[in-house]
Amino acid sequence: MAEPLALWHADHVVFGRLLDLLEIQVAAFHAGERPNYELMTDIVDYLRQYGDRFHHPREEAAFCRLVERDPEMRLPVNRLLQEHRVIARAGDDVLERLGEVADDVMTERADVEAAAATYLVYYRHHLATEEGKIMPLAKELLTGDDWAAAGEAVQGAPDPLSGVDFDERYRELRKHIALHPAKPRAQ
Ligand SMILES: [Fe+2]
Ligand SMILES: [Fe+2]
Repeated sequence: MAEPLALWHADHVVFGRLLDLLEIQVAAFHAGERPNYELMTDIVDYLRQYGDRFHHPREEAAFCRLVERDPEMRLPVNRLLQEHRVIARAGDDVLERLGEVADDVMTERADVEAAAATYLVYYRHHLATEEGKIMPLAKELLTGDDWAAAGEAVQGAPDPLSGVDFDERYRELRKHIALHPAKPRAQ
């Protein structure tokens, strides 16, 4: 079944572009320039709101089915489930640091930069594992029933960044995505 896999991949493409945008801001930090804190906050907030609440639970249902089809997948799947929890915590950590900056609390620049850089490395590694190792297997092994179960794992999961009904809060984010075309990547 190609469509759920295509949607799964499409989410990852958006996430990858957001991480690229976040990296530009982290580089500005590193160069001693003032990064766009609002944009950084919106990126991580979106990934917390949509990625962690809708994308990850759907994946977890698909992972579950994958382990049923191939028990050898239990260990790598457990690792990915743990990474979902770590990504959520790391995202909270970045948002907390950015919140301190916004509130003018004394925050070490290095702490904000380190939290965002850790998030970047961790998230990118996670996406690469899913794209390179998990999704090809899911394509091969999951049945129509499995995909349906994954799709039903989360009800009413509107992506606040896409479609006509997107959340106003992410207007700036959409603009930035439009202005920064995706970088070609080696798969
Ligand atoms: Fe994931
Ligand atoms: Fe994913």
